[in-house]
Amino acid sequence: MRKNIVAGNWKMNNDLSETETLIRELKLQNNPSDVEVMIAPSFTNLWQAFNTLKEHPIEVIAQNMHFADSGAYTGEVSAPMLKSLGIKTVILGHSERRAYFNETDAILAKKVDAALKNELRIIFCFGEELKDRKSDNHETVVGNQIKNALFHLDASALNSIVLAYEPVWAIGTGETASPEQAQDMHAFIRKTLAAKYGNDFANEVSILYGGSVKPSNAKEIFSKPDVDGGLIGGAALNAEDFFAIANAF
Ligand code: G3H
Repeated sequence: MRKNIVAGNWKMNNDLSETETLIRELKLQNNPSDVEVMIAPSFTNLWQAFNTLKEHPIEVIAQNMHFADSGAYTGEVSAPMLKSLGIKTVILGHSERRAYFNETDAILAKKVDAALKNELRIIFCFGEELKDRKSDNHETVVGNQIKNALFHLDASALNSIVLAYEPVWAIGTGETASPEQAQDMHAFIRKTLAAKYGNDFANEVSILYGGSVKPSNAKEIFSKPDVDGGLIGGAALNAEDFFAIANAF
């Protein structure tokens, strides 16, 4: 079901004691009742974060996982391992995974299948690079990323998938897509889903925007009709900023 969501992707930041400090600060903030708030700490701190937030509405989620359930994949973490901690949601397809770890659409399709098989909800990320936008190719690129990784699924799988549009040129750069650019792309994404799965299913999918979302721009971005929240990087590392964003609907 379509919901407002604000998810903080901590990326490779915060050791154990910094994680504990930030969670302590997050717990002091005013949790909005109608927004799902999530944080994605690094793997080494997931268990601690999960336990500390057990009785709290903030959901602890994972930043990534492998497509195999187990095996000789040194350094990797599987869906059953996440599940065994109590984790219910995983981020897949982040542009940093695509760019620095060569995650292709085909690999991501396998990760999507593995997450669904293990009953994990997915925040599936995608987005165009600056060259795609400059050449007016951004919709084609985004449409293909969605089709290649998700369109082998049945419509019912959409219940377990949240989409996150993150234009690569706006991630960590301070440059945000304008609210209009975000809305145009989100409407295109919904149209792409509707063409394959029908309007009823497409209208139920939450589509998040990510890329330099801050307390100062969140309200305007979230006010757009097809934007259902945000995937937050830098601003998620500060409890007050993160909750200012979570309360910006
Ligand atoms: O996962 C989060 C996104 O990459 C956005 O990061 O808010 O630092 O631009 P950012």
